[in-house]
Amino acid sequence: MQFLGNYGLNCNDFFRISQQIALPPWTGSPGFAHYRAITPGPHARMQILVTGSAGFIGFHLARRLLREGHLVTGIDSFVPYYDLRLKEARHALLEAEPGFRGLRADLAACKVVDRALEEAAPEIVVHLAAQAGVRYALEHPETYIASNIQATFNLLEGLRRRPARHLLIASTSSAFGASEAMPFRERDAAATPLNIYSASKLATEHMAHAYAHLWKQPITAFRFFTVYGPWGRPDMAFFKFTAKILRGEPIDIYNHGRMERDFTYVDDIIEAIARLIPVVPEPGRTVGASDSLSPVAPYRLVNIGNGRPVQLLDFVAAIEAAAGKKAIRNMMPMQPGDVTRTWADTTLLQALTGFAPSTDVRDGVAAFVAWYREFYRA
Ligand SMILES: NC(=O)c1ccc[n+]([C@@H]2O[C@H](COP(=O)([O-])OP(=O)(O)OC[C@H]3O[C@@H](n4cnc5c(N)ncnc54)[C@H](O)[C@@H]3O)[C@@H](O)[C@H]2O)c1
Repeated sequence: MQFLGNYGLNCNDFFRISQQIALPPWTGSPGFAHYRAITPGPHARMQILVTGSAGFIGFHLARRLLREGHLVTGIDSFVPYYDLRLKEARHALLEAEPGFRGLRADLAACKVVDRALEEAAPEIVVHLAAQAGVRYALEHPETYIASNIQATFNLLEGLRRRPARHLLIASTSSAFGASEAMPFRERDAAATPLNIYSASKLATEHMAHAYAHLWKQPITAFRFFTVYGPWGRPDMAFFKFTAKILRGEPIDIYNHGRMERDFTYVDDIIEAIARLIPVVPEPGRTVGASDSLSPVAPYRLVNIGNGRPVQLLDFVAAIEAAAGKKAIRNMMPMQPGDVTRTWADTTLLQALTGFAPSTDVRDGVAAFVAWYREFYRA
């Protein structure tokens, strides 16, 4: 159901069609299923909607917010892009926390978004649901239109009718595309996307700016830089490398290892998001020269990265050290649509929140490998 895509259909058409589609047993109503009723925790403060809650970052964020006593509604359509058992396991942990309500729903269906906003009545919305991945975008570009552009559009439209105090949207460092001006600064032009994933994320940034301008919905968009850590994504290099090194299989190293990434540990990402939630953009209230605050909208773009790029081969060495095994290296040419280097300027994040990611890659990788071994009994 999730990739009907809505093309040529209006909201009502889509909902009517979705009602005719056979649904798996876990769905209570078309495209929309309640997992459990909200049980407010003793320190409940805000109603927060987290999209992509069965995903890597959404899961960590929802867990952190719940532990702070917030009421969290999590939406995820459980896209089978990678191991669904991992998504199920993440959501099961969230469901065990008081204050969580899970919805299995496709944001590309606009009725779903309206109902979720109506029922959750969120003060804060953190939109992390997306089709991620640079390489998958080469084979399945259409999914990026539905899950990134259409779904984000539906959310923006829903919030136009029922505004939130602050909408925070995930974007990506790959939005900087072919830019070679290092480190990447939010105010630099990002006009050279190299794949449909980056292009779709840039489109969501631009749609968000337009909605912030027109309807005064305050929005912060963050560009994440290669996030890694426990409960991570099986399609990402750190995960694949670890799995293969532990199994004694060769790993593909692109561009013959001549790559650098600003690897960012997931706890640092979550800390940054949590601190940005109360930092609602207001026109005219800048924090200095690094601020990307729009002159015409309550909209700001913020990098969340470690600020220290690491050579890919050093990252592999950190995995080898944590795994206690040497990698068999299969040197490969550059992948189409990929970039050789990313590096975040985090001046703005620090100015807004007083926080700068600092987890050393060896510590972060060790935590990931320990989690991997336990989860997969490897
Ligand atoms: N992990 C990274 O390194 C990284 C880097 C840059 C940007 N990002 C962005 O951060 C966000 C979270 O990424 P992640 O690593 O947690 O990815 P993820 O794939 O683990 O999580 C995304 C979740 O969104 C859900 N989803 C996808 N389409 C949906 C739809 N139409 N309706 C409802 N749910 C849908 C998926 O099922 C998935 O569980 C994404 O927007 C991604 O583009 C991630």
